[in-house]
Amino acid sequence: MPGTIKTEFIPRQEGVVLNRIPTPVASLLDGKALAHKIQAELATRIQTLQSQFGRAPGLAVLMVGDNPASAAYVRGKERACQKVGIASFGQRFPTNTSQSELSQVIAALNQDQQVDGILVQLPLPDHLDANALLYEIDPDKDVDGLHPLNLGRLLRGEPGLHSCTPAGVMRLLQEYQIPLVGKQAVVIGRSILVGKPLALMLLAAGSTVTIAHSQSHDLSAIARTADILIAATGRPGLVSAEMVKPKAVVVDVGISRVEDSTGSRLVGDVDFNAVQSVAQFVTPVPGGVGPMTVAMLLDNTLWSFSQRHKAS
Ligand code: GUN
Repeated sequence: MPGTIKTEFIPRQEGVVLNRIPTPVASLLDGKALAHKIQAELATRIQTLQSQFGRAPGLAVLMVGDNPASAAYVRGKERACQKVGIASFGQRFPTNTSQSELSQVIAALNQDQQVDGILVQLPLPDHLDANALLYEIDPDKDVDGLHPLNLGRLLRGEPGLHSCTPAGVMRLLQEYQIPLVGKQAVVIGRSILVGKPLALMLLAAGSTVTIAHSQSHDLSAIARTADILIAATGRPGLVSAEMVKPKAVVVDVGISRVEDSTGSRLVGDVDFNAVQSVAQFVTPVPGGVGPMTVAMLLDNTLWSFSQRHKAS
């Protein structure tokens, strides 16, 4: 898909339009549109499977506390479930919920035949041990792909439930036919949720992968080597135009709410306006990776449902 060219007319002093200075503008990697397409496909498949097996796939999203960003994400996930025909078994818990209460809920959901996917929305309040809870989710219902067994499967290149955000990024790159084999990919961010699994997926796809992070020396120089640059730090505007190689593909995983004189808005890690004139492709925020995360969560839930029925 070629980049579009925006032309500017620069009037000469005498007012005659003479020059056309082409300013390349990156094409969008439109996660919102692709997520809609995936959801429509999933809805059709779910209808068929539901009549075949007599039940809808089920997803339980557990949320503890009242973090407004998490609450918005969870509502978005549940709305998406409803749209495609996945049954929601979500539960909300007050901030002071104990580790053992949550362990019991997870144990019950592991046994529940109506539930194919379990997700604990992160971050959790400080008194809770998220890692311990993630271990307790049945790996076959771990639609977040964060259980050590699923992360191990990813490391070994085996099929399994893979983390939603990295899977969403890969699906977006695939949809736009971005070449990955032999390309330099730089992932900025080393979280278990995004940076590390995404680096493994890019490696599996044949890219040469560098993981950079907040302690990397000369981040700009590292970033400029990237044919595919992924920003997953949560630091608004970290990636400037100078950090982007001309014609690179830039994927912005960050999403932060900033308040300024114009009000409150969501921004990514990438200085979108500046990078647009350097990159070949760029994801918008919002409307890029976010909707793809939700689409992959639904996809993982359906995969888990299908595996369960295959085995039965
Ligand atoms: N918080 C922000 N993104 C995610 C996600 O993908 N999964 C979970 N469990 N929590 C999150």
